[in-house]
Amino acid sequence: MIQYVSTKGGIQPVDFETAILDGFAADGGLYVPTELPRITLSQLMTWKDFSFIELAYEVLSLFIDESVMSEKELRQLLTDSYSTFYDSNVIPFHPLSSPPNLFIQELFHGPTLSFKDIGMSFIVNLFNFFLQRKKDRMTIVVATTGDTGPAAAHASIGKSTIDTWVLYPKEMITEEQERQMTTITAPNIYPVGVSNCPDGADDLDILIAELFADKELKEALNLSSVNSINWGRVMMQTVHYFYGYLKVIDRVGEPLNFAVPSGAFGNLCAGSLARAMGLPVGKFIVSNNQNACLHRIFSTGIFSKEEMINCPSSAIDILVPYNFWRYLYFAIGQDPIKISSWINEYNQNGIVHFDRNTYEAYSQGFVSYSISNEKTLSTIEKVFREENYLLDPHAAVAVAAAISFKKDYSNNAPILCLATAHPSKFPIAIKDALTDKEQLPSGATHFSIEAAKENCERTYTCHFENMRTAIPKIMKENSNKGDS
Ligand SMILES: Cc1ncc(COP(=O)(O)O)c(C=O)c1O
Repeated sequence: MIQYVSTKGGIQPVDFETAILDGFAADGGLYVPTELPRITLSQLMTWKDFSFIELAYEVLSLFIDESVMSEKELRQLLTDSYSTFYDSNVIPFHPLSSPPNLFIQELFHGPTLSFKDIGMSFIVNLFNFFLQRKKDRMTIVVATTGDTGPAAAHASIGKSTIDTWVLYPKEMITEEQERQMTTITAPNIYPVGVSNCPDGADDLDILIAELFADKELKEALNLSSVNSINWGRVMMQTVHYFYGYLKVIDRVGEPLNFAVPSGAFGNLCAGSLARAMGLPVGKFIVSNNQNACLHRIFSTGIFSKEEMINCPSSAIDILVPYNFWRYLYFAIGQDPIKISSWINEYNQNGIVHFDRNTYEAYSQGFVSYSISNEKTLSTIEKVFREENYLLDPHAAVAVAAAISFKKDYSNNAPILCLATAHPSKFPIAIKDALTDKEQLPSGATHFSIEAAKENCERTYTCHFENMRTAIPKIMKENSNKGDS
């Protein structure tokens, strides 16, 4: 049976259920499996025509032992998780004609129109499954740059085992994203807008780590998280890499490149695990906006934090990509002592210069780009004008990076660009990008976004300076309401 340890090495191995329900490991590290399952090319060939749900079952059953969850239970959980998606295939694809061999993987057909629905629908159902079995309740807290929050909140509606708190940096997400959380009437969903966050959602990630470190609060609320710190999210996200590969590639075994709009590196961490499991990936094209921490890591070997810049692709306005540590743990051969010392170095000095061997180990198979705001908007405009296809600003960052990659390298393998959000979540950026600003194309709207405008909003708000007292206080005041 696969067991789970911490990237910081400070805990005894735990089983899958514990790793999922804990979220953070007790030593503050991230959970990782003690070994990664391997997938052979002949296994991949037998999966070629599988639906997304069939494939998800095959991949996840390599991580989840039958003693934890039976085949029937896992298949049912997957079917339930994707029954709310607007596209019956869960994830459709779109080829671009110029440049050739560039494909879009549309990951945004879930109930809140971003790729976060793919991991979140599953993991919240998984929490509910374990908690029902244990006859227990939990409080989930997540920080969001605008997409994780709506996905967690929607997935939690109607779950009697869970209270979900969603912390978002006010004025740093779009109105459309905010309404996706604040118009929910289910009593177990609590959105909290925090104003004046200097570092956006990064500030809220730090707050969440502090809430977890407060033993009394953690126990009183039975606290956990479904941010991509949670192993279950990363594990589920490996599936769309396998699925994308099998749908796009003609002959199993050929390499496929992936261009991924990246912020906290959760999605790319999942991709790198899929590769380590045996997926024939050519290059991962790390696609940053102007907040370019990952680009610095992959192009210079320096992990550092800089001032926040507001970008049209606001969901990847992230300064510290915490999932990079989980990836690095595997890239350097599972050495928790080194990971802990780099994290301490970063916490003390705000910067880490990786040594040459480490840099070479982790950057193998990756290239990176930082795409300017101007380039993001011009890519939306060009693709719409030439192909009548509307990209959201995050997909545009990936497509712009993929086009640069094609110019810079003689690599003819096809590229799959991950489209992580629906354009209707970012109407202001779309308007800024397109020449006809009066008449937005139909692809820039979605009926669920329009419907939310007609509902009242319900949220808590507090100021950044007071969040450390205000948020735990309101969480305690509301705890166990669902029991009554
Ligand atoms: C639309 C969109 N694209 C990309 C990302 C980046 O994903 P990750 O943080 O896993 O790198 C996010 C997440 O914040 C997102 O909401």
